[in-house]
Amino acid sequence: MNKDSVNISTEEDESQFDNGKVVKLIVVGCGQRGHVYSQYAIERPNRLKIVGVCDPIKYRREKMAKEFGLEQDKIFSDWNDIINLEKFADAVLIATPDQLHRDPAIAFANKGYHLLVEKPLAITEEDCKLIVDAAKKNNVMLSVCHVLRYSPINLKIKELIDSGLIGKVMNIQHLEPIGYYHFAHSYVRGNWSNIEKSSFSLLTKSCHDLDLIHFFFSSPATDGGKSKYSYKKCKKISSFGGLTYFNKENKPKEAGDAKRCLSCPISNKCPYSASKIYLEFYPWKKFVLVPDREPTLENVKLALQNGPYGVCAYESDNDVADQQIVNLEFDDGTTCSFSMVAFTEEMCIRKTRIFGTHGQLECNGSNIVYDDFRFGDKEIFTPKVIQNTKMSNHGASDYYLMRSFVYAVSQNDPTQILSGPDDTLTSHLLVFKAEESRLKNTVINF
Ligand SMILES: NC(=O)c1ccc[n+]([C@@H]2O[C@H](COP(=O)([O-])OP(=O)(O)OC[C@H]3O[C@@H](n4cnc5c(N)ncnc54)[C@H](O)[C@@H]3O)[C@@H](O)[C@H]2O)c1
Repeated sequence: MNKDSVNISTEEDESQFDNGKVVKLIVVGCGQRGHVYSQYAIERPNRLKIVGVCDPIKYRREKMAKEFGLEQDKIFSDWNDIINLEKFADAVLIATPDQLHRDPAIAFANKGYHLLVEKPLAITEEDCKLIVDAAKKNNVMLSVCHVLRYSPINLKIKELIDSGLIGKVMNIQHLEPIGYYHFAHSYVRGNWSNIEKSSFSLLTKSCHDLDLIHFFFSSPATDGGKSKYSYKKCKKISSFGGLTYFNKENKPKEAGDAKRCLSCPISNKCPYSASKIYLEFYPWKKFVLVPDREPTLENVKLALQNGPYGVCAYESDNDVADQQIVNLEFDDGTTCSFSMVAFTEEMCIRKTRIFGTHGQLECNGSNIVYDDFRFGDKEIFTPKVIQNTKMSNHGASDYYLMRSFVYAVSQNDPTQILSGPDDTLTSHLLVFKAEESRLKNTVINF
């Protein structure tokens, strides 16, 4: 077994993705994600060029415009203004907040742009289908930013499964450890804390994970369709969990009436203290706390005094689940259990165990331990990951996602996309059904 055969991470191997065509991309939503993916144009200027940016926040759109040397007529505060122009790029990246994916995605598809859309594709099943239909109707490519499908370690797991090494996969256990202070940041105080303002946390955080599980359980497609994979049908799904900790009832008595961490008497011993998280870890997430001007330490302190990120973690307007489990049974009886947990030291370093009839794989995020049941063999796989990139999040999968999308567009080859419309629609459906199960307190039969 070749221990790292799936990885294309050396500069020589990278050169196979150079084909002389520079893909032109418009970025709609110049926040964290829009900025990260755009770095591909800086690292691989022979493959990608950013030709337009759009964001209602002036500071953000102008910062990106400056970084990419854009003229004033290619800087927009409203994406409708781009739609009204002649098409001037090959593709668009939709990196707006979750509830604002549908309308621009459909409008750009209707205009003939290929689509790279952040996950979740949309916040309802119906809206997801509308986007997929628009992409298909207009014959444009749609890639959803399920970055985990592109990480070398997950591709290695997939390769090992598909090679038959562990026999038939019978069960998967998967954990998403969100990280205690990351959860407090995003899901208690931040953009994904409130269902009304964004959506439920299984969708906003873990549509990635159900997608990955679905991916691991898939087999290579033989029908010549647009997806490379053929997916097992889920037969039953159940889910439990909810908001169990971050509420007023659990506020420590010693905190008294303090509504903000800067004035809290126990801030120094609270794991969720905003003073600790943002001032001690500065510059962590400084751009999120201060989206509209230079995020200096002084401006971060002001944000903690006045904005949502300085509010006590037990006093916020959050209502999303801080832990949730999902159980799945597929039509051949194979099963999976997934846990999404806020209360972890590690942040988003997924743990996956895959049990087959002839062996098992255990992944801790950086290597895969294989145990064979027939001969007692043991082997450890440590896939190589590209090092010289600023897009190193999620095991550099941000980099690999961009590489695949850009290559797909330049070659007009949708098979380069691992997270296309049908792949995403089926895995998003699992998320919506799991949430339905949790809310109705019942097992959902498909
Ligand atoms: N793939 C991943 O691993 C991953 C990780 C984090 C977030 N996300 C997703 O990426 C998306 C963006 O998240 P983010 O963290 O970058 O958020 P962000 O708040 O940093 O950025 C979103 C940007 O969109 C802008 N925006 C709002 N309305 C707009 C409009 N009508 N037109 C254009 N721009 C508009 C905002 O001003 C903001 O700058 C979300 O859907 C989020 O769930 C994905």
